[in-house]
Amino acid sequence: MAKHILLTGDRPTGKLHIGHYLGSLKNRVAMQNSGNYESFVMIADMQALTDNANDPEKIHDSLLQVALDYLAVGLDPEKTTIFVQSQVPALSELTMYYLDLVNLGRLERNPTVKTEIKQKNFGDSVPAGFLIYPVSQAADITAFKADSVPVGDDQEPMLEQAREIVRTFNHTYHKDVLVEPQGVFPPKGQGRLPGIDGNAKMSKSLGNAIYLSDDADTMKKKVMQMYTDPGHIHVEDPGKVEGNTVFTYLDAFATDQAKVAELKAQYQQGGLGDVKLKRYLNDVLEAEFGPIRDRRAQYAKDPAAVLAMLKKGSAHAREVAEQTLQEVRDAIGLNYFTHY
Ligand code: TRP
Repeated sequence: MAKHILLTGDRPTGKLHIGHYLGSLKNRVAMQNSGNYESFVMIADMQALTDNANDPEKIHDSLLQVALDYLAVGLDPEKTTIFVQSQVPALSELTMYYLDLVNLGRLERNPTVKTEIKQKNFGDSVPAGFLIYPVSQAADITAFKADSVPVGDDQEPMLEQAREIVRTFNHTYHKDVLVEPQGVFPPKGQGRLPGIDGNAKMSKSLGNAIYLSDDADTMKKKVMQMYTDPGHIHVEDPGKVEGNTVFTYLDAFATDQAKVAELKAQYQQGGLGDVKLKRYLNDVLEAEFGPIRDRRAQYAKDPAAVLAMLKKGSAHAREVAEQTLQEVRDAIGLNYFTHY
């Protein structure tokens, strides 16, 4: 059976956190290890520049951090091609051809991009590159003929846009060069981890994240600060489980769910204090993230080796993307000199 092709990526705008892990990294590693995929994972530095053009240093710094996070969670360069977007120029050329197949109104209607434009307070100054990043993302995906794209739910509009481009391309140039991708989404209700403050989204800008790189003390401090039930004041008070961040995390990470059910019952009845509950959560998180943190620290000792790995991955990615680009140019007829 022919293997599926997996491609996904992250913008290097900071270190990755345990929300990224739950929503995407964990699943990616499982897919890698299933043996059913040829896997490509990209650090999307060009995409990160679309709204950080004046802060390239942030992106340079984050590149290594993200690579370390990848290796720490178990992405294995022997099994997955890990590469850097800007080092694969074919992606930019593909983007140019695809831009001619998309209209501006369609781009402006992309709901994820619309939300991001509001959040980023661009006002009337939306960078053109930002508006069109879904097209560049279609290039990222199709350059590798990926059919499986593991991403968060917010990326569905990007996949839809990519499929439209594939259909339009193949139809316009009368050749089935490009492959329609499908998103691979986290199971319902498991995709998004709230921040430690209870905010629905864990993010660097909200300052409510636990990072894969956090040391044991930092993680424990964050757990002890975590938002629970503000009405649960005394140990003997009955507390709420619904909307209680500690329980949301236990649902996501505890391997002993019978124990979690017991704790919930006890908490609701009264008699289980937040401190005790948080200590248990900390143990659960240590079991999952302690080994990841240790592996990360090992890799961090040799940044040159990590860069060499990215260089090698990027060289392979370049070859694969060049091949697709050749087919794309042939389909459009941009091969004037083939016989000269
Ligand atoms: N937009 C994605 C994110 O912010 C990153 C990304 C860039 C990506 N190119 C991609 C994801 C191609 C999947 C496929 O997380």
